[in-house]
Amino acid sequence: MDIDLDARIPNNVHLSSDKRLQRALEQWLPNYLGWWREVGPSGWQAADVYLRTAISVETDGWAHFGYVKMPDYRWGIFLTPPEPGRTIGFGDHLGEPAWQEVPGELRNMLRRIIVTQADTEPASVEQQRMLGDTAPSLYDLRNLFQVNVEEGRHLWAMVYLLQSYFGKDGREEAEGLLERRSGDRDKPRILGAFNQPIESWLDFFLFTMFTDRDGKYQLCALSESGFDPLARTCRFMLTEEAHHMFVGETGVDRVVQRTCELMKEAPVEGQARQSGLLQGPTGDVRERGGIPLETLQRYVNHWFSWSEDLFGSEISTNASDFFSSGLKGRYKEAHYADHRALEGRYRMEVVEGDRIVDREVPLRNAMNEALRDGYIDDCQRAVDRWNRTLERHGVAFRLRLPHRRFHRHQGIHAGRNFDPEGRPLDEAAWAANRDRWLPSEADRASVQGLMAPCLERGKIAGWIAPPAKGINGQPFDFEYVRR
Ligand SMILES: [Fe+2]
Ligand SMILES: [Fe+2]
Repeated sequence: MDIDLDARIPNNVHLSSDKRLQRALEQWLPNYLGWWREVGPSGWQAADVYLRTAISVETDGWAHFGYVKMPDYRWGIFLTPPEPGRTIGFGDHLGEPAWQEVPGELRNMLRRIIVTQADTEPASVEQQRMLGDTAPSLYDLRNLFQVNVEEGRHLWAMVYLLQSYFGKDGREEAEGLLERRSGDRDKPRILGAFNQPIESWLDFFLFTMFTDRDGKYQLCALSESGFDPLARTCRFMLTEEAHHMFVGETGVDRVVQRTCELMKEAPVEGQARQSGLLQGPTGDVRERGGIPLETLQRYVNHWFSWSEDLFGSEISTNASDFFSSGLKGRYKEAHYADHRALEGRYRMEVVEGDRIVDREVPLRNAMNEALRDGYIDDCQRAVDRWNRTLERHGVAFRLRLPHRRFHRHQGIHAGRNFDPEGRPLDEAAWAANRDRWLPSEADRASVQGLMAPCLERGKIAGWIAPPAKGINGQPFDFEYVRR
């Protein structure tokens, strides 16, 4: 595929041959940069950051590493190469040629899907904007900025689709994406998790672990889309997204490792804990400048539950419409035998009155829940990895995912109270236990108290272990960010 890297907007979509579109995007560019300056990373805009930049869509060698000042990052538009003769892989249009233009009757639905995905990209940059002040190492600071510039590029990718295929409506949506603000009372971002504050690096690691991972599942489902430009856009975004989830999963693992080390520094108490005699709050870890495992568990509960909401309601006619119309498939649709999903039923637990009962739902109406199933399995795999770290250190504590009913704000369980095992609770029992299950004011204050910058080459803050290896074959003590 031809890649135009020297253009004002690097791309592989022959932008220079569509003057109208090129003009529209070039007009949007200064607005984007204005947004980046206003609510993008606070400070560090003049620093040289060791960043990777997408320069091709080949599986190997798609990225170039080098020092870049963030405002000079080349936010480009890259789609994976078209597959000749590609057909629609699911739904009512199964087997028909994939669409290169938007089918008129699907226009509104498709626009809504794209805008909802697009809105998450700038939102996360806004949520993370203050973290540069308190980075635990230059390595982590660099990873933060890598995630930030790539979320910016994902916004570009989505805005390209809007401007290119949705005319005036698309241009208005592109403006709206720069006008909403995460957490803003009057103009919030569209989805709940993207309005939750990211105050600390602990929030950041759990966000990139759980919330970026929702993104993976959404992008996988959209990369099945019968609308070919959307499918190809999402496929390439997934290559970048893998690093974001890596940052989160390994970041939490490094916190777990460091906490274990700090627990072992108090040998007597450590032994008692190991034998299960000591079950109370880990004040000792906090005093040594670490994050207690109980606190970490509460942050897991918070970000996992908010991220589960992003999949939408368990029983959903929208999800059914997205699937039947051929716009949004399942995770790895090719692995299913029946791509129409007209016959199947999906069994799920629902709450009726104060009883939990099994209910069968037509498969198409349960597409959100099916996608959430894959997501939860993937999250469990990461939790198992963290628990192996605990085991290696001889610590008895185990992290766990709360039940899918716990602390939900979307779907059939929203507005009810459940404990982390999924058992219904009344309001009083919830209120009495809330701070055992979700980060309390005291947790937030103590985590916040640990967040002091550690920006000397090769140094790391006391609450987290260094990574097993550096970026792009560089050592941990590499100068990842130069002021
Ligand atoms: Fe993204
Ligand atoms: Fe991401």
